[in-house]
Amino acid sequence: MSRRQEVLLAVVAALSVLLGAPAGAAPTTAGSGNAVNQFPEGFLFGASSAAYQIEGGWNADGKGESIWDRLLHTFPNLTTDGRNGDVAADSYHKYKEDVEALASIGANFYRFSISWPRILPTGDTNVINQAGIDYYNNLINALLEKGIQPLVTIYHWDLPFELQKLGGWTNPRIAEYYVQYAKVLFENFGDRVKLWITINEPDMFTKGYATWGQQAPSVNASGIGDYQAGHTVLLAHAGAWHLYDEHFRPTQKGKIGITLNIDWSEPATDSADDAEAAERSLQFTGGLFAHPIFSSEGDYPSVVRLRVDANSKAEGRGVSRLPSFTTSEVEYIRGTSDFFGLNHYTSWYVADGVEGTVPSKTYDSGTITTPMTEYPLTYSAWLRVIPSGIRKIVNWVSKTYPGHPILITENGCSDDGSTLDDQQRIEYYTGYLSEVVKAINVDGVDVIGYSAWSIIDNLEWMAGYTNHFGVFRVDYDDPDRPRTAKASASVLKKIYESNSVPLEYFTPDSSST
Ligand code: NOJ
Repeated sequence: MSRRQEVLLAVVAALSVLLGAPAGAAPTTAGSGNAVNQFPEGFLFGASSAAYQIEGGWNADGKGESIWDRLLHTFPNLTTDGRNGDVAADSYHKYKEDVEALASIGANFYRFSISWPRILPTGDTNVINQAGIDYYNNLINALLEKGIQPLVTIYHWDLPFELQKLGGWTNPRIAEYYVQYAKVLFENFGDRVKLWITINEPDMFTKGYATWGQQAPSVNASGIGDYQAGHTVLLAHAGAWHLYDEHFRPTQKGKIGITLNIDWSEPATDSADDAEAAERSLQFTGGLFAHPIFSSEGDYPSVVRLRVDANSKAEGRGVSRLPSFTTSEVEYIRGTSDFFGLNHYTSWYVADGVEGTVPSKTYDSGTITTPMTEYPLTYSAWLRVIPSGIRKIVNWVSKTYPGHPILITENGCSDDGSTLDDQQRIEYYTGYLSEVVKAINVDGVDVIGYSAWSIIDNLEWMAGYTNHFGVFRVDYDDPDRPRTAKASASVLKKIYESNSVPLEYFTPDSSST
């Protein structure tokens, strides 16, 4: 037994005594009766990916062009390595190897996204691409054969370019097109897909309507286009939820929710102003989308409404940069998610103050965000390993929006891809999962599942293929794109198969994280 394991076991034994468990046994908690490192029975473990990041086949068999195809073909130097998603990991042809990888880590679900233009090349239902339907049918069937449940993200950022010609997400009518697209998916795959995510990370992809060069479609309309796009997203999401709820749920009996990205905001100092600023920053990222859907009163958070209205007025504008919902729209959106899909990666210090251009979401939020430099950095400049943040954020979600089970739909970290012995990723996963299991057993938070990002190395958007997030390596210099397991794959397998964070990996004491 290593020194680290000995220390851990000693701490666990001490905790057992504190929590009243028999000496020598793993500690149990009063609420769940589970050992503190044990996930509840039926907990879902999986891994995630997204169409543009892995599929390739960008124009294969009738697929239409997406906003990402268009952006990276037009501006090839936008990505760090000048590469794009034309071939990616070639999962369009090699999906069976992805399924093998998932089976090998003991995943019981796979969260993948469907490419809207692969199904509907024009964005509308006038053309339905049968080859696209066949591809996803094959993938879904291959998963089910291995006992892996498909969890389908309907939209993970690859809007059909034809719809961008109409203004993309800034055009409210895109919500109607989106609902028609979702209907095609429910009709074709809903007999086997029982878990749906309507939309992935609206806070992130609506930056594509704020600043050039961050996200597709790269429209410069900071502080206006991003709010307008988010407004359409909320209506689109609600439309798909209602369609499923009324017409498909009675027979298909699945669940459908949205995935929001929320980093944890740690107040920069003990001052009341910084505590308020940290909360405000959570409201401007998560709350902007969560409050209309998950709060009991619906609509945008009042702090966001007030600040954007006031800033718009001060700028001499006749209309607020943040659109308004009608009373019936507020009701239409409220309560439209069967679970809270959460993507979480890292944490930041947040202070009261002003930064960002005028107008911008950052400026409106009245917060200054700085990195928590005492924590280890990964290969992504924005991503530090801060396990305690995930426990804080799931607690925040469950207190702010009580009554909604949380499904962690993404969590993971990057490296430079130089080694298969990815120790930092192992520390990341075991640290974060230790905090998740404590949030469940000690804090009583209702987390129902966890998905690692990502099953394979993939195109990390503007970082191209330089940031490696997979628990399987993909060799992007080999035309065959071979997949190879990294050390982290076997650690995830131990966690997933034991339904626990084994004691050798468990961090009982959060103060050290
Ligand atoms: C969130 C996004 O959903 C995903 O596409 C991205 O690759 C990961 N975060 C890592 O940045």
